Amino acid sequence: MKVCIIGVGYVGLVTGVCLAEIGHNVICVDNVEAKIEKLKKAVSPIYEPGLEGFIEKNLKAQRLKFTTDIKYGVQNSEIIFISVGTPSLSNGQADLSYVEAVAAEVGKYINGEKIIVNKSTVPIGSGDWVSMIVSESIQKNNPDKNVKFSVVSNPEFLREGSAIGDTFFPDRIVIGSSSKSAIDKMLELYSPLIEQSFDWHSIDIPRLLPKGQKVPVVVSDLTSAEMIKYAANSFLATKISYINEIANICEKVGADILKVAEGMGLDSRIGPKFLSAGIGWGGSCFPKDVSALAYIANEYGMTPQILNSIINVNREQRLKIVKKVQDELKIVKGKTISVLGIAFKPNTDDTREAPSISIMNSLINLGARIKAYDPVVKEKPQTLSEKVILSQDVYDSIKGADLLILTTEWDEFKNLDFSKIKSIMNNNIIIDGRNLFDREKLLKLGFKYIGIGR
Ligand code: UDX
Ligand code: UDX
Repeated sequence: MKVCIIGVGYVGLVTGVCLAEIGHNVICVDNVEAKIEKLKKAVSPIYEPGLEGFIEKNLKAQRLKFTTDIKYGVQNSEIIFISVGTPSLSNGQADLSYVEAVAAEVGKYINGEKIIVNKSTVPIGSGDWVSMIVSESIQKNNPDKNVKFSVVSNPEFLREGSAIGDTFFPDRIVIGSSSKSAIDKMLELYSPLIEQSFDWHSIDIPRLLPKGQKVPVVVSDLTSAEMIKYAANSFLATKISYINEIANICEKVGADILKVAEGMGLDSRIGPKFLSAGIGWGGSCFPKDVSALAYIANEYGMTPQILNSIINVNREQRLKIVKKVQDELKIVKGKTISVLGIAFKPNTDDTREAPSISIMNSLINLGARIKAYDPVVKEKPQTLSEKVILSQDVYDSIKGADLLILTTEWDEFKNLDFSKIKSIMNNNIIIDGRNLFDREKLLKLGFKYIGIGR
């Protein structure tokens, strides 16, 4: 089928490439020319393990095209995905200006029956709002005033760093629309994934589903599909804030959160995933989606008590690290602190709402000298204080440090040479913000180990 993806970011790019991989013809559109020029040369503008291989393969197979020409994309496809950014405004509301601009462009160029798919996470009820924008634009700008279209909500559940696996082997696919024919078209588009009938042998990523297991599809109305995305993300964020609160109590009573999480997770009603205590959740989705859902509740005169609580717990959790630094160093001013990890989580270069950034900015404000290292983030994010020194070598970031903080649990940090670290640090304090390190091993080497909830 012919597909157009508008907005080729973390979600749009992975979605487009994977749809091409399963045999569709995909035109990817973005308004950042530099991004498109890189993609035409099979260079990915984002770090997503395995993605570049698929871009190159599908460019060669001529199933994948990149352009800034939205008119070309709209007029040469039957299904148009909108996956432009929906960042948070300062009051927590989702910024829909990009979705609005793109929907108006689609209305202007639409040249025959189309399906318009909301992939971007949009507030509840936005499907109807997109429909209104497209209709208004058709009446105002389109030569064919009677052109038909349907709007579908098809929320994404991709985790950065495992987005390709999550696309080929999803737990479920959600399709929301009031149009039966649009739903049938989407079922046809996704049938290789639903049936798991695509040639997954040719895909060098671990198969996440038992062999032969089909992917369940939830078909609903637009609003329910939009709510599934917000409710799922907010629940996952709740689970993390919950385990972080339990970790904080563990610290007081002397329990070990790793054992507590293990004992909890074996209950099939709870499950072991998303029970890792640490410095809390960041990224481009949880903070934005939880705030947007709370905002929607408030718009209807409700007080989202649980959502407000998980936001507060999460905000305080990252500042607990600053408190631990003050407890250990007493005087932070003038001290050198090494921070390992800038990305909001491992296997991504995304630093949006990363806990590491608010922790480093707070410590800079207390007068600390900070040397930071990340295996993939090699340029300082705009949101990070320019006083932070970005090291290109992990041991260089640790040399002379009075205290070391682990903020992102990259695998490579597990295998650091701690005997060498002991010899190059000024002091022996390690704060493990993600409970990544082997506490017993570090204690034996003479470090003062401080974890989260243990
Ligand atoms: C986006 C939404 O932010 C998120 O809510 C949704 O769940 C998935 O899609 P993400 O892919 O991370 O997430 O967004 P981002 O990485 O910001 O990519 C958006 C892309 O759209 C960027 O490449 C941007 O250049 C492009 N864009 C934005 C356009 O092409 N046109 C516009 O008008 C605005
Ligand atoms: C999330 C959702 O998982 C995905 O379904 C949705 O489509 C987009 O948002 P992502 O933001 O990429 O994906 O990362 P995820 O792996 O969910 O982690 C989110 C945050 O929670 C990260 O900051 C991570 O460090 C934190 N986290 C995750 C924990 O602190 N503890 C955990 O046990 C798991």
